[in-house]
Amino acid sequence: TVGAAGWSRLAAASTGRVLASAGPLPRPFAVPLPVPPVARPVRSAHGTDFYEVEQREGTAQILPGRSTTVWGYDGIFPGPTFAARSGRRTVVRVRNGLAVPTVTHLHGGVTPPESDGYPTDLLLPVRCAPGGADAGMAAAHGGRTAVGYRSYAYPLPQRAATLWYHDHRMDFSAPQVWRGLAGFFLVTDAEEERLPLPHGERDVPLMLCDRSFEEDGSFRYPAPHDHDAFPDGVLGDVQLVNGAPWPVLDVCATRYRFRLLNASNARRYRLRLDAPAGRSAPFVQIGSDGGLLAAPRAVTSLAMAPGERFDVVVDFSAFPLGSELTLRNTAAAGGMRDVMRFRVVRTGKDDSRVPARLSTSFAPLVPDRTMPVRSFDFRRTHGPDDRQMWTVNGRPFDTDAVLASPRLGRVERWRFSSDFHHPVHVHLGQFQVVARGGRGPGPADAGWKDTVDVRPYEVVEVLVRFTHYQGRYMLHCHNLEHEDMAMMANFQVV
Ligand code: C2O
Ligand code: CU
Repeated sequence: TVGAAGWSRLAAASTGRVLASAGPLPRPFAVPLPVPPVARPVRSAHGTDFYEVEQREGTAQILPGRSTTVWGYDGIFPGPTFAARSGRRTVVRVRNGLAVPTVTHLHGGVTPPESDGYPTDLLLPVRCAPGGADAGMAAAHGGRTAVGYRSYAYPLPQRAATLWYHDHRMDFSAPQVWRGLAGFFLVTDAEEERLPLPHGERDVPLMLCDRSFEEDGSFRYPAPHDHDAFPDGVLGDVQLVNGAPWPVLDVCATRYRFRLLNASNARRYRLRLDAPAGRSAPFVQIGSDGGLLAAPRAVTSLAMAPGERFDVVVDFSAFPLGSELTLRNTAAAGGMRDVMRFRVVRTGKDDSRVPARLSTSFAPLVPDRTMPVRSFDFRRTHGPDDRQMWTVNGRPFDTDAVLASPRLGRVERWRFSSDFHHPVHVHLGQFQVVARGGRGPGPADAGWKDTVDVRPYEVVEVLVRFTHYQGRYMLHCHNLEHEDMAMMANFQVV
């Protein structure tokens, strides 16, 4: 057993190994925070917004004086932000202008199976001979292969929430996300719009991820034959927010809403906002992966595992003009303890508030005595040649194996256990954490979740319910290197 001190040490530990950059690291707090552009529909008709996006190489200025080739949606990293509405269909037609197959998954989306981005539903490059090796592989796994273009349809029968989209290609999600294939997808609804929360320029998405760079400015990522040296995931030594290294944001002395996303491959964060004179400013958490909480909660530190989102409000009016506040990751060491900086540079009119009651559409799931209880154990094993394998219930991912067949609309109790840090992500279903380590939910577990951090030798219990669609979906570890090393499993909603 692990005592309380042990737990907090475990919670803080960053897993994975740092891949050092070649060449000088950028100076912190020198670049303004970029905000990704909002995607515009090419047309709207009959309650549907149609978008066209191209996956292609682009050039980004991430490091001073050096340029970086990114693989981006529309050639940018992060990709464009989609602004969608609950219950209104969004159709995104993706053109693959890259040289590799891709798969796009809307993380947190309640999406029909054919648009969910199953890892073998490959979108082959537009310049690709049909019937090549990738198509053969996908077909062998029952994949729905498309060449050049694929339309993903998102009906969004779900609450307002901060979702994100990213690559999910079988065996290659980690390197492809690392090179830039990720972006925000924001869903709003009438309930959220009625709230007096900060909005417009004071509603800022913050995508946190770490990267390493080659001397020439290109992204550095281990070659396939080096993957075994990073069994716990690849960590970078440059902290990016919205694609910029250790950026700075000039703010008014008012409230801001920040939608925090941990889009890192393997890095974990314990965020704290350091204010002048050693004071630590509270975050007011208003939402989680699955949208608004019932009521706000003030917290001084936020633990974020890969894939998780936290929606927070920070009130800068508590600080004199000229104050500098630094967002820190207290789970990291050295320069990676810094994330970004806020400078309070002017006063501003603020008509925003954080109401004591945020959402009435949030209802706790009710367990019952006859509901199915299922266990999923996330564990490292050694294969016959002593290579590391990452497994769910003892087996690496098998596209044909179905580990569970939950019934549509039925509440189930799922137990996640592990031998290591594994952020467990469930497609389609949203869940509520009811127990962690034999106690109640932890501070980061509030609200509707689709990703939950399972720490070493800890059991996390959730109540989950799948709605709207039947078919094959997956759950997996969201440490992207573990995901690529087969720590995924299927379930079939019936
Ligand atoms: Cu964010 Cu299955 O992934
Ligand atoms: Cu894992």
